[in-house]
Amino acid sequence: MRSHFCGELNESLIGQRVTLCGWAHSRRDHGGVIFIDLRDRAGVVQTVFDPDQKQAFAAAESVRSEFVLRVQGKIRARPAGTENPHLRTGKVEVVADGIEVLNRAEALPFQLDEVDLSEPVRLKYRYLDLRRDFMQKNLRLRHKVTQSLRRYLEDRDFTEIETPMLTKSTPEGARDYLVPSRTHPGHFFALPQSPQLFKQLLMVAGFERYFQITRCFRDEDLRADRQPEFTQVDIETSFLDENGVMDIMEEMLRVLFKNVLSVELPQPFPRMSYDESVRRYGSDRPDLRVPLELVDVGDLMKQVEFKVFAGPANNPNGRVAALRVPKGGELPRSQIDGYTAFVGQYGAKGLAYIKVNDAAKGRDGLQSPILKFLPDDVIAGIVQRTGAQTGDLIFFGADTAKVVNDSLGALRLKLGEDLGLRQAGWKILWVVDFPMFDYDAEAKRWVALHHPFTSPKAEDVERVDLDPANVKARAYDVVLNGSEIGGGSIRIHRMDVQEKVFAALGIGHEEARAKFGFLLDALKYGAPPHGGIAFGLDRICALMSGVDSIRDVIAFPKTQKATCLMTEAPSEVDETQLRELHIKLRKPPEKIAGEAT
Ligand code: AMO
Ligand code: AMP
Repeated sequence: MRSHFCGELNESLIGQRVTLCGWAHSRRDHGGVIFIDLRDRAGVVQTVFDPDQKQAFAAAESVRSEFVLRVQGKIRARPAGTENPHLRTGKVEVVADGIEVLNRAEALPFQLDEVDLSEPVRLKYRYLDLRRDFMQKNLRLRHKVTQSLRRYLEDRDFTEIETPMLTKSTPEGARDYLVPSRTHPGHFFALPQSPQLFKQLLMVAGFERYFQITRCFRDEDLRADRQPEFTQVDIETSFLDENGVMDIMEEMLRVLFKNVLSVELPQPFPRMSYDESVRRYGSDRPDLRVPLELVDVGDLMKQVEFKVFAGPANNPNGRVAALRVPKGGELPRSQIDGYTAFVGQYGAKGLAYIKVNDAAKGRDGLQSPILKFLPDDVIAGIVQRTGAQTGDLIFFGADTAKVVNDSLGALRLKLGEDLGLRQAGWKILWVVDFPMFDYDAEAKRWVALHHPFTSPKAEDVERVDLDPANVKARAYDVVLNGSEIGGGSIRIHRMDVQEKVFAALGIGHEEARAKFGFLLDALKYGAPPHGGIAFGLDRICALMSGVDSIRDVIAFPKTQKATCLMTEAPSEVDETQLRELHIKLRKPPEKIAGEAT
């Protein structure tokens, strides 16, 4: 049907006849001459219809945006002064002498080059949204990313193996998506939250190096970087310790960034312990592009009369931390009030501050509502420890460690953005030495911070059940520009250790057998030491594309409310289907509230 692609035409082809296929990107009538910008997968080229070519001209007159066309003509240089430097093909045009309308198009619900399209409209007409250059670029980049990763893993002897989608719950901390079984009344499959257990079984099976680029399903609260179905680059290896896994994986990321973006990531990636990360950044996924850091001042506050500080300072679960903002002295009161409200979202009850008007004058050079509560030596200690200079501001958080970390951690990022402190470029690191368990205060029990198959550090195995708070895991996360792009661990390969960890998690013998009997059995038959990692492909692609939401790198994503506006899934089903599945609804289905269509 065609001889060339629109987007590939250039001066070297001047004089040649071409046949092109594509969409009418735009049509302009210029005093008797019609210009149609024709678009195909390679790009856009200008075609020109002259009134002398009566038939073609008449047909071109009927063309509207997004008609599908086949155009014949000859390539010529654009007349001097009419070149378009913004277009790759901008030095040439095609003088058309034939045109065929392959299909008509109704007026689109939006212009493809509109800038502020609302997301509901984009998602309802996703197939049109995907025509836009922005989305075409993002999905092509995603393709390059998967190709690069596949090639790397292939070159290192990893075998790509598919694992089931209809399976049993694999706990990764989210709710399962369930699928009712028709043939087994009252029984359900779960869609995998990850292939975790299958990949471990593939190690027992002797593959040694496995990978899969696969969909995972998690029914959890959605955010810009979370979808109910998302893609993992899932990897498992045998006979490698954490350094072995981290070495191969960071090389994979270096090769990826080099191939796709010509960016050199550091060799090796820096590593930081979980404890250090939380202490300095209030988070286990620190964005190192923002130079601000939390500084502990609790030890200075133990004796002060200001209860807001003294309380948490004397509480083992409390924290009092300071955040120095260079040149923050210029912040107006209204903005400080805004930040106080901002940290309130994270549970902070206030946001005390000190402005450093003149560092040389000691107490007299400072300005703050809390100054009167603090003795001289404490004030001197704060200034000295934060390194505050004239013109700076120091914020304080005092509460449980969790509230202080969450609120000052988030404030740190917000200040970085608002004050233009965030550096450009790529900051990647490994976060290591994670705690094995986290205490769920609501459920009053210990939960696995990673997943229950993660191995405790060798020296901690004995105290897994005795002192869970102080057990460290052989786990590692990769964090890129403040986003957790991957996480993994060395696994438990001994049945007795696995049972011990289940016990620490309050999973009794019976329950462990019922849920994970197949894993416990497999561990009996010569399971090698093994470990791996999974990367969030969507997150990696979003970062590499420079977009804020992973929805912009997924062809057909779900909304924040886990629905598809295009297909209108989820939807009601026929009574007969429900009957076949042995399902009786508790109440009649309602329309999903609050979703624009
Ligand atoms: P984890 O739960 O950390 O580990 O997931 C691995 C990576 O997947 C990405 N990710 C998500 N991306 C988009 N939407 C989501 N809802 C979502 N949830 C997670 C993140 C994350 O780092 N089985 C283990 C891996 C292992 O131990 O090998 C696992 O699934 O980038
Ligand atoms: P108050 O004594 O409540 O008037 O608070 C005095 C200052 O301390 C105000 O600037 C509050 O914003 C701040 N503040 C109150 N509670 C906290 C807290 N938990 N952490 C940090 N600052 C606080």
